[in-house]
Amino acid sequence: AVVVLDYGSQYAQLIARRVREASVYCEVFPYDTGWESVAHLKPKGVILSGGPASVYEPGAPTLPDWVLERDLPVLGICYGMQLLAQSLGGRVAPATEREYGPATIEVVASSPIFADLPERLDVWMSHGDRIEELPEGFTALARSDNSPYAAMGRGNVIGLQFHPEVAHTPLGGTILRNFLFDLCGCEGNWTAASFIDDAIQRIRARVGKDRVLLALSGGVDSAVTAALIHRAIGDQLTPVFVDTGLLREGEPETVREVFGRHFHMNLVSIDASERFLTRLRGVTDPEQKRKIVGAEFVSVFEDAAARHGPFRFLAQGTLYPDVIESATPRDSKTAAKIKTHHNVGGLPEDLQFELLEPVRMLFKDEVRAVGRLLGLPEEIVQRQPFPGPGLAVRILGEVTPERLKPLRRADAIVRQEIEAAGLGDDVWQFFAVLLPVKSTGVMGDQRTYADVCAIRAVTSEDAMTADWARLPHDLLARMSNRIVNEVPGINRVVYDITSKPPGTIEWE
Ligand code: XMP
Repeated sequence: AVVVLDYGSQYAQLIARRVREASVYCEVFPYDTGWESVAHLKPKGVILSGGPASVYEPGAPTLPDWVLERDLPVLGICYGMQLLAQSLGGRVAPATEREYGPATIEVVASSPIFADLPERLDVWMSHGDRIEELPEGFTALARSDNSPYAAMGRGNVIGLQFHPEVAHTPLGGTILRNFLFDLCGCEGNWTAASFIDDAIQRIRARVGKDRVLLALSGGVDSAVTAALIHRAIGDQLTPVFVDTGLLREGEPETVREVFGRHFHMNLVSIDASERFLTRLRGVTDPEQKRKIVGAEFVSVFEDAAARHGPFRFLAQGTLYPDVIESATPRDSKTAAKIKTHHNVGGLPEDLQFELLEPVRMLFKDEVRAVGRLLGLPEEIVQRQPFPGPGLAVRILGEVTPERLKPLRRADAIVRQEIEAAGLGDDVWQFFAVLLPVKSTGVMGDQRTYADVCAIRAVTSEDAMTADWARLPHDLLARMSNRIVNEVPGINRVVYDITSKPPGTIEWE
């Protein structure tokens, strides 16, 4: 494995993902982590991330002693490079010109880090400081117009002023692989298959003969968690699926089909739609809707736990980005927000369970790969994010069966058409929203006065920011035509062209 030390870069997670893409296992740690906390990974190398500080400022994040004492290969990126330079006796100072954006570097000395690469490389720079004097024993490996030391090295200690992990450094993957394979001697045998074998052993060892409860939402994370635990311990797992009546067309059926009939799990499937809809009657405030759905979910789930228990473990599909973010203080506000979003329903703390989180070290794309290998169908593995409160927050105004029906139909049309156009993988989320607005229309010789439906389709990396998808006009036309023709009660379709910020992805 490789250790990534996080100096507060927005790219630390990205570095980890790139390393994993090379089939090398890695974990991200705060920069001041001690050797005792990483030793169990038997690290073959260390990557120091970039960061917003300046190494010469008082109180700037420092290099833990063990990094150099252990004689491990080290790759310092941006701040990481400057930190290496400063710690080893070089000199770092503010650059006269901040270098931000695309740049071209020229490789000036041969080094394994630039093996198999051309002499000139397009890279992405983002730094205000630069190295003025190299530490003893280091040589310049590359230069750019603004950085005489765009890369430096001494044996297996390498510094890069630019960011090999971002897409704007097109050959950055090769540079990282050179570090991992040539300098660290990693083998690149960490795959979804090896993860599954390992996870099954660990789940069996931890759970023993006890029983595990899991809330199956229909989403990727809980689905893969269920499939993995079921592979390990079979019917000691009880997945509970609560149909809130707020899911999209076909979803409850898919969950029952896949987990009940195909995987033969001991699925507890509860149709609670009436309970939910009764509680939501007359409610129009979005936060109120969220609270009601959350509380009702917990109560239904607790009933099921009591009826089918006792259980020692509660399984959850927590993913690595949430783990990293909750360990990294710099972003505590945004991290906290993401977490409340992701905790479907927000299970209460006084449930007396031990948590079982077998995919907590995986990124989303890795969870998907694991799910595929476990035999989950594409419609589950590729499922887009869907809010816990479901369609309740996509019907503006009161949520009633009469309004759920047209929204479900319109939403299904949006999904079908975008998939059929082959854009399903490019667009992060796409769905229909039912507005509390009626407008006039004409169909045949008849005047109509009916609901307006909005289509929302956004591109995004992580849901923190998003842009409205530039869908082809023909596609928009097809969706609009079909919705107005096929969905009784909707006579007008609008397309949402708001980015996030200032908008949000959902309308409520
Ligand atoms: P917004 O609308 O805040 O959404 O831009 C960001 C991401 O979070 C999802 N979302 C939710 N997920 N419970 C959830 O589990 C919620 O209450 C909730 N609200 C928004 C949204 O779909 C998007 O992916």
